[in-house]
Amino acid sequence: MDRQVYIRDIAAEDGREALLRGWLYGKRSSGKLHFLQVRDGTGLIQCVLSKKDVPEAAFAAADKAPQEASVEVRGKVAKDPRSPIGYELHVTDFRVLQGEAGYPIQPKEHGVGFLQEQRHLWLRSSRQRLILAVRHSIIKAIRDYFDSRGFTLVDAPILTPAACEGTSTLFEVPYFDLGKAFLTQSGQLYGEAAAMAVGKAYVFGPTFRAEKSKTRRHLTEFWMVEPEVAYLDLDGDMDLAEDFIVEIVRAVVASHEQELKSILERDVEALKRVCKPFPRITYTEAIEYIQKTGHPIKWGDDLGGDEETILCKQFDRPVMVHRYPAEMKAFYFKKDPKDPKVALGVDVLAPEGYGEIVGGGQREDDYATLKAEIEKHNLPLDAFQWYLDLRKYGSVPHAGFGLGVERTVAWICGLHHVRETIPFPRMMERLTP
Ligand code: 4AD
Ligand code: MG
Repeated sequence: MDRQVYIRDIAAEDGREALLRGWLYGKRSSGKLHFLQVRDGTGLIQCVLSKKDVPEAAFAAADKAPQEASVEVRGKVAKDPRSPIGYELHVTDFRVLQGEAGYPIQPKEHGVGFLQEQRHLWLRSSRQRLILAVRHSIIKAIRDYFDSRGFTLVDAPILTPAACEGTSTLFEVPYFDLGKAFLTQSGQLYGEAAAMAVGKAYVFGPTFRAEKSKTRRHLTEFWMVEPEVAYLDLDGDMDLAEDFIVEIVRAVVASHEQELKSILERDVEALKRVCKPFPRITYTEAIEYIQKTGHPIKWGDDLGGDEETILCKQFDRPVMVHRYPAEMKAFYFKKDPKDPKVALGVDVLAPEGYGEIVGGGQREDDYATLKAEIEKHNLPLDAFQWYLDLRKYGSVPHAGFGLGVERTVAWICGLHHVRETIPFPRMMERLTP
């Protein structure tokens, strides 16, 4: 096959003949001219076919070519100041590989239910393609961050014997003679074991929550990255989360600033304000902030999506809320020695109303205290014996957190709902395509 040029690299071909391979995004015709919008996964370019410059068959093929047909276009790359990419293609030959009329997604407004049903095709739109690219950049920035700071990537199992984040949101799977297994809610407990082996570990994988939540922030399957560090306390954990988030936002803005503005109309200046230090407030102070807006919340209440939105709208950068009531938190949190009513945990709330993107904290490292918590939460002690062992053989203070990839994509891209942040979202009412 002839060498294919990608639209992303078109500037290097200025004035030369190029072969593009892609799909027909849109078309406009006026008598002896066809204007084809061709996309190839790296960009979109206008290809101009003039009847006098192409073989008759090519002109006829362009006339008939349906939306999203796969196409091959040859032509001369020419500067064009009106083009968003600065170039267009003056076509010398054109061919359709395959295509059929009736592409379901038309260049008009469709309902989101319809688009979700067509997710396998919807991904081809400029907006969805960009979201996929930003998601990729976020994942790469996450890995680069930890890989360049001495962390070891450790994979946690997806099939697990017990709950990590509470028994009410577990998906059950039949498991041979052993009865049942559960899809993991978090790799944290395994991350803790790994941290005792490598010092600084991170787990990165899919996690599952059978939550009966139909909010714009909940998926039943989502990706979470979970660093876990030996000899780290809550303050150190907050320093790590803050530094990490600043770096991810910086990396994404550096590679996608123009597209974020032009395709998603994202206010990139708001992202540029994400710098250190993030405000750190206690849960108790957070409750006072929210009460001042006239909200009837009281100490001991959970911060739901609405309350988080009220709170994070008061700050121009992410805010860290620490020391939640221990009653509200999972069994593994260490309590504050100065006030055992509160847990040494932290949530990071993204600005502009996006809410919690990170949850984490310092872990209970005392054997007897942890054992008592497991019993108090009615969790099966035998399933946690290995976890207790970590407090028996060289226990150390340690801490970590989990960052949800989809909520981070939603925030950075400025998307209202997490359903557009993952290629094929899984939600309570959606398992297809
Ligand atoms: O706050 P969570 O439940 O914390 C944990 O699972 C800890 N074990 C993490 C740790 O310390 N290693 O979840 C962490 C993050 C949330 O802040 C949120 O970003 C995301 O995971 N998350 C969800 N994202 C989408 N849909 C859901 N249902 C989510 N539940 C949590
Ligand atoms: Mg949480």
